[in-house]
Amino acid sequence: MATDKEIVGSVKEQLAKLFEESLRAAFPDIEDVHPMIAICNDSRHGDYQCNNAMSLWNKIKGQGTQFRGPQPVGKAIIDNLPASEMIERCSTAGPGFINVVLKKQWIAKSIERMLIDGIETWAPKLPVKRTVVDFSSPNIAKEMHVGHLRSTIIGDTLARMLEFSNVEVLRRNHVGDWGTQFGMLIEYLFDKIPNWEAASAQAIGDLQAFYKASKQRFDNDPDFKERAQKAVVSLQGGEEKYRKAWTQICEVSREEFQRVYQRLGVHLEEKGESFYNPYIPKALDLLNNKGLIQESEGARVIFIEGKKIPLIVVKRDGGFNYASTDLTALWYRLNEEKADWMIYVTDVGQREHFEMVFAAAKLAGWLPQNENDFPKASHVGFGLVLGDDGKRFRTRSTEVVKLVDLLDEAKSRCKLALEERGKATEWTAEELEQTAEAVGYGAVKYADLKNNRLTNYTFNFDQMLSDKGNTAVYLLYAHARICSIIRKSGRDIEELKKVGGIVLAHPDERALGLHLLQFAEIVEEACINLLPNLLCEYLYKLSEDFTKFYTNCQVVGSAEETSRLLLCEATAVVMRKCFYLLGITPVYKI
Ligand code: ARG
Repeated sequence: MATDKEIVGSVKEQLAKLFEESLRAAFPDIEDVHPMIAICNDSRHGDYQCNNAMSLWNKIKGQGTQFRGPQPVGKAIIDNLPASEMIERCSTAGPGFINVVLKKQWIAKSIERMLIDGIETWAPKLPVKRTVVDFSSPNIAKEMHVGHLRSTIIGDTLARMLEFSNVEVLRRNHVGDWGTQFGMLIEYLFDKIPNWEAASAQAIGDLQAFYKASKQRFDNDPDFKERAQKAVVSLQGGEEKYRKAWTQICEVSREEFQRVYQRLGVHLEEKGESFYNPYIPKALDLLNNKGLIQESEGARVIFIEGKKIPLIVVKRDGGFNYASTDLTALWYRLNEEKADWMIYVTDVGQREHFEMVFAAAKLAGWLPQNENDFPKASHVGFGLVLGDDGKRFRTRSTEVVKLVDLLDEAKSRCKLALEERGKATEWTAEELEQTAEAVGYGAVKYADLKNNRLTNYTFNFDQMLSDKGNTAVYLLYAHARICSIIRKSGRDIEELKKVGGIVLAHPDERALGLHLLQFAEIVEEACINLLPNLLCEYLYKLSEDFTKFYTNCQVVGSAEETSRLLLCEATAVVMRKCFYLLGITPVYKI
């Protein structure tokens, strides 16, 4: 989301610039000191702190320095700070921490400018240009289960945050559309629907049932099994009839996936496993030329230090597998797509697989040895979705839960709650429908995103749809309430923005203003660490800060009305951007 306005950079970054100058001026002989700036844990000490004094002292002590400890070092850093509109005062504390208090006029000005120039000017600056986010990635003809829902939701949020940070994102759906199961599916199609070529893709009907039936036949009918195995060879050999049947089967799944993506408002670009198939021999050649591939029990493998089992890249029957495809996809993303960050969103169960693939790529020199250097590959693992019984989430019939059903239920529960509150008469049918959808789907997404992704979480409709506590419902309502405060004031907010005049006199106003300003660095941290829950925590704290402000500071009808309405507007703008980044549609009335 590029903007023609200048991106201002986070508070941390702006402070770092000032401290960098001061470090250079105070310690000209010491090279490569990077300012270490952090938010103060205890706001009574200050807003930010600079933590360079201690390590600097350790460097210079015993070398004939005039300084007598880390505190004087801190003092020298403070004394050499260039004049700026940003800092009110600094002080040293403890063994040399420098506490920084920001000028509230500067905080107010920054918010006013954002209101005019747009929230895009608060985008973080990241050290990457192009990323591949490999997410969702369900398997053709198999159920798209809650694990894929997690991957879809988490991956979409990461993609949105990176896009907001002006990084180009290739949103990759690495669907499982290749492998031996297709032989069986194709033969079954030939048997069941003899006129399949003329029939529409829908003739297959429920693809999961189709899969199950063909598997049963495969297991019990040796004749069918043989035909299925031959079909794989024909398919991989590129025989027209088999390619066509395969395409048709994939199409049925694709339409089903698309329905889920559409509801979730998620956009993906498919490059399935089959796409990489023609490149596999070349990629394996490259690895082989580096002497990485060895023979082991009839298979061709790569041994990875510290791993008991090697990474199999060619199976005993000569076929390729999940790992050969992923190695090739990694090569393709690096060399053809020129990505500098490859991000893979799957359950933690696949961690080992990705560790081995990345390790092999390092051995080949495709990726740098140092984890922090670019190009970089990261596995974004996540935990299980549990039911109320603490076991893997299933329906009563112990079948996997259908995603579409989950979303339907979330929506219908929200609709009911709105009707109970009399909205059916107050709103148009369309408004009711749209709000139920926004709140229902938002609740499912938020319940997933708010936890650290590595932990398992319990799927519970009552909890996620509660209007109290850390839920999307609570947050969406909080946003709608702010919008209604502004509406009811009767003032034209666009006009107020031009006039400006935010004053952060009350401590709760200042706290809210500072938290608003920290948006950029939180998005940055969430991107760098690939942790969407950081953004959720920020959003929840924002609504808490707003509530405190609103409880203690009269807005409409007060002498500070203009300033406080602008603060309301800024809060609503930042909340909406958070919702957007979390893939949640905001609502404006409740
Ligand atoms: N299709 C796989 C599954 O359902 C996920 C693929 C993830 N991406 C990858 N490049 N391996 O488990």
